[in-house]
Amino acid sequence: MSAVTPSKQITVPEFRSAKARGTKLAVVTAYDYVSSRLCDEAGVDCILVGDSVGMVVQGHPTSLPVTLDEMIYHTKCVMRGARRALVVVDLPFMTYQVSPRQAVRSAGRLMKEAGAHAVKLEGGVRMRPAIRACIEAGIPVMGHVGMTPQSVHQMGGFKVQRDADQLLADTAAVEEAGGFAVVVESVPADLGAKLTAAVTIPTIGIGAGPNCDGQVLVFHDMLGLYPDFKPKFAKRYADLGTAVKTAVESYCREVRDGSFPATEHTFR
Ligand code: KIV
Repeated sequence: MSAVTPSKQITVPEFRSAKARGTKLAVVTAYDYVSSRLCDEAGVDCILVGDSVGMVVQGHPTSLPVTLDEMIYHTKCVMRGARRALVVVDLPFMTYQVSPRQAVRSAGRLMKEAGAHAVKLEGGVRMRPAIRACIEAGIPVMGHVGMTPQSVHQMGGFKVQRDADQLLADTAAVEEAGGFAVVVESVPADLGAKLTAAVTIPTIGIGAGPNCDGQVLVFHDMLGLYPDFKPKFAKRYADLGTAVKTAVESYCREVRDGSFPATEHTFR
C-alpha cells in the first residue's frame, strides 16, 4: 500500500506520518520531466531531485560541482511531471553550509522559483541551526546522515559509516531540529535498524538495510543507465543501458543500409 490514496498530492505531514501507520515509503530520484512522470505514474511516494544529477546526468566524479541554478532548472522540469509524489530537492554543496541565513535563502529559491515541496540537506548535529532556520521560515527539511556524498573528500571516499554514537546523534539532531524525515546512507543494516527505532520521523535508507521506514534509489542505478559505478546497495531492476545501445545500433544500421525511413515513416 502507498502513503496516500492515488491521484492526491502527497503532503509533508502525510509522508511523515507514514511511519506511525506502518506504511513503507518508496522514494526515487528524477531530474527531468519524463523520468518524473514515469516515476509518479508508477506510484512512488516521493521524488528526490538529488544532486546525484552531477554524477549520473552531468558526468562529474562527485556531486560537488552542482549549482543552485542547475537544481532550480531540474526541479522545474520534475515539477511538470509530478502530480502525486512529494517532490524534495537537494541543496547543493556550499549553498547552505556557510550559515543558517544562506540555507534559508537557497532553500527559499528552490521553493519559490522551482516549486519544490521540501528540501534536503546533508548533516545532522552540525546542521541543526540550518535545519531549524529553514523550518522557522516555513520550509520543510529532510535530513541526510551516514555517508554524505558532499563530504566525500573528508570521508576519504564513498565509504560505509560505522560510528554508532555519531550516527545516533546525527539522526536524533535532524528530528530535534524539526526535520520531517531523514535519509540514512551506507551504514550496516543493524545500525540502520537502531537509527530507525531511535526516532519518530521516517528513515529513508540507501544501503542502510531493510528495517528503515522507506528506501531510496538513484533512477539511473536502478535502471542500469549509469555505466561508471554500481554501488553494492543499488538493485538493478532493468538493464535499459543495454536496451538503449541495442536500439541505437539498429537505427545506425538501418540508416546506413537504407531500410529507415520506410514507407510508414514517409509523407506523400
Ligand atoms: O543525491 C541523491 O541522489 C541523494 C540520494 C542518494 C539519497 O542524495
